[in-house]
Amino acid sequence: MRSPPIRDRTVLVTGGAGFIGSHLVETLAPHNEVRVLDNFSTGDQSYLPEDVTVVEGDISDPIALQQAARGADIIFHQAAMVSVGQSVAAPRASNETNLEASLLVLEQARQEDARVVAASSAAVYGHPDELPVPETASTEPTSPYGIQKLALDQYVRRYEELYDLETVALRYFNVYGPRQQGPYSGVISTFLEQARAGEAITVEGDGEQTRDFVHVDDVVRANLRAATTDSVGEAYNIGTGERISIRELAETIRDATDSQSPVIHKDPRPGDIRHSGADVSKADSELGFDARISLESGIRSLISSEPATASERAAERAVDAQ
Ligand code: UD1
Repeated sequence: MRSPPIRDRTVLVTGGAGFIGSHLVETLAPHNEVRVLDNFSTGDQSYLPEDVTVVEGDISDPIALQQAARGADIIFHQAAMVSVGQSVAAPRASNETNLEASLLVLEQARQEDARVVAASSAAVYGHPDELPVPETASTEPTSPYGIQKLALDQYVRRYEELYDLETVALRYFNVYGPRQQGPYSGVISTFLEQARAGEAITVEGDGEQTRDFVHVDDVVRANLRAATTDSVGEAYNIGTGERISIRELAETIRDATDSQSPVIHKDPRPGDIRHSGADVSKADSELGFDARISLESGIRSLISSEPATASERAAERAVDAQ
């Protein structure tokens, strides 16, 4: 079950029709005036409840941004180009979205005096020099994506200091859950699709690389905590503190789906991070957040049902809450 929603606020979710954003919107919509700004490049209208205001446009479009943010108390900034590989192929395009347009969002928040909860990333650490990695670890990103997220993360924290704006940066580790799909989605959705189709499950490299996978419902709860915390001007790791190797993940998904798919190895991905795992103690002590959904149960629920629309999810949550 998710934490109690924020009530009677005007809230903007950038990227609100996307994977993480739409789950956040769904949780906030029953009790708040929710606006969604999304260009629908990866988002989907069917993920959205009916009673939200949708502004279709880029976060780089000042008119659309102004319209969507007018009167907002809180801005959850989720819009981004999320693929590390795409950022390597097109660093300027991803910089425009992930950094330059993000600065417009921060400036708009200043206009409205709105709190900002921004999606940062574990990618800011690059190859971590300690595991699990605390927020104080050195930041040496290995990709344009990581560089952009690190700059955003720093801006977000400095906006609190320089302009007295309430801001929080959430450093997401590997987020998974319903609605993560498409060519640039995460490894869990790719492996699930391959296993279900009976195709080979493609492990990149030796598969000994590890990740900390956190369920999107936990990420929503972290955002809600960040929206009300007094500990602003800070960055927090959002993960589970547990790591699994990609090879083990492939085998887990194959077994859980009763698939006959072989697990095969391909070339490693350029710039791939070897190990990633969150030290979650700061989020625990300062935000009161800890992840509740184990990878095992998260994968199980993904396999057993993947309700596509907001109304199906809302019905499911109503049952959960009983
Ligand atoms: C992910 C996020 C990124 C986030 C980062 C934080 C996505 C798409 N990207 O990057 O936004 O900032 O976590 O930690 O969610 N792999 C395979 N086979 C595949 C696909 C992937 O073996 O078919 C491997 C990759 O080589 C990598 C691992 O699985 O080692 C995870 O890849 P991926 O899900 O793309 O996420 P990250 O690159 O970790």
